[in-house]
Amino acid sequence: MSSSADTPSSTPRNDTFLDQTLRPESFDDYIGQESIKNNLKILIGAAKERQNPPEHILFYGPPGLGKTTLAHLIAKELGGNLRATSGPAIERVGDLAALLSNLSPGDILFIDEIHRLPRTIEEVLYPAMESGVLNIIIGKGPSARTLDLPLPPFTLIAATTRVADLSAPLRSRFSGGVYRLEFYSEDNIADIVRRSAQILGVDAEESGIREIAKRARSTPRTANYLLKRARDYAQLKRAPLSKQMVDESLGMLEIDELGLTPLDRKLLLALIERFNGGPVGVGALGAALSEEPSTIAEVHEPFLLQLGLIERTPRGRVATEAAYKHVGKTPPADLQEKLM
Ligand code: ADE
Repeated sequence: MSSSADTPSSTPRNDTFLDQTLRPESFDDYIGQESIKNNLKILIGAAKERQNPPEHILFYGPPGLGKTTLAHLIAKELGGNLRATSGPAIERVGDLAALLSNLSPGDILFIDEIHRLPRTIEEVLYPAMESGVLNIIIGKGPSARTLDLPLPPFTLIAATTRVADLSAPLRSRFSGGVYRLEFYSEDNIADIVRRSAQILGVDAEESGIREIAKRARSTPRTANYLLKRARDYAQLKRAPLSKQMVDESLGMLEIDELGLTPLDRKLLLALIERFNGGPVGVGALGAALSEEPSTIAEVHEPFLLQLGLIERTPRGRVATEAAYKHVGKTPPADLQEKLM
């Protein structure tokens, strides 16, 4: 069967509007990531006092944990405009030059998926980040000259799911801080679901909220997605959103009690049955599942690692005892050696 629930991290289109409604409006509304919030408050507070834009900031971590939301909150806190783009949208040096030269003082430039910015374009970003100038090359060959255009003071906020793919020179230029977003606790996710249910006007029982939190992959975006799907189901059943409604609706979406999707379970089964429990590289797993290796590495693996269902060893991914149990298989006798 088709598995519409495979990637709740890529929320379906018609829910985009609702996602805006659910986005926190201030740091006080933003639940969790306490350490990041505290550090950002200092960075922003001090910069505001000096009447200077804060230094450039990098957020990294799995999708759906709130990197873009933090960028919006920072812009709001500073009273500046957020100019949002993404690494793959910047194809030529001219695209970045146009973005930079159109900034107004105090603007925030947000580049999502910055790991997909071509290296040749990175080099235009360095002087812009460091000295606030845009180097433009005019002409070709021996008569080519560079022109340094001063830029208005701005803050770059970048986000990535793959920090290891950024070049060291680029990473080192985020002098406002490089922040790793963590998976959320179940209590924090329950608080987010409770807040979202209230905003959406959903009559949700505590048992329903807790059950969504349990299955939400420790990820706010997934929590809001599951809330909306369970809300639809309860609405047609003319019932409040109880644990039973959540169990039934998420059962139909094939999201299990750990929050695993059909693709997550297929991944564990392929690892166990086709690759003997591993170790196996992400490329081979991707080929076995007809999925992009990058989707597996960035979307699926982080949560399976967090749950302790797989481990990364120098030789590749290995299924743990918990993974065998979760898919109803007996762990092999030599499992401990593989995990070493
Ligand atoms: N919606 C998405 N992420 C959130 C968060 N961290 N806090 C509150 N609401 C959210």
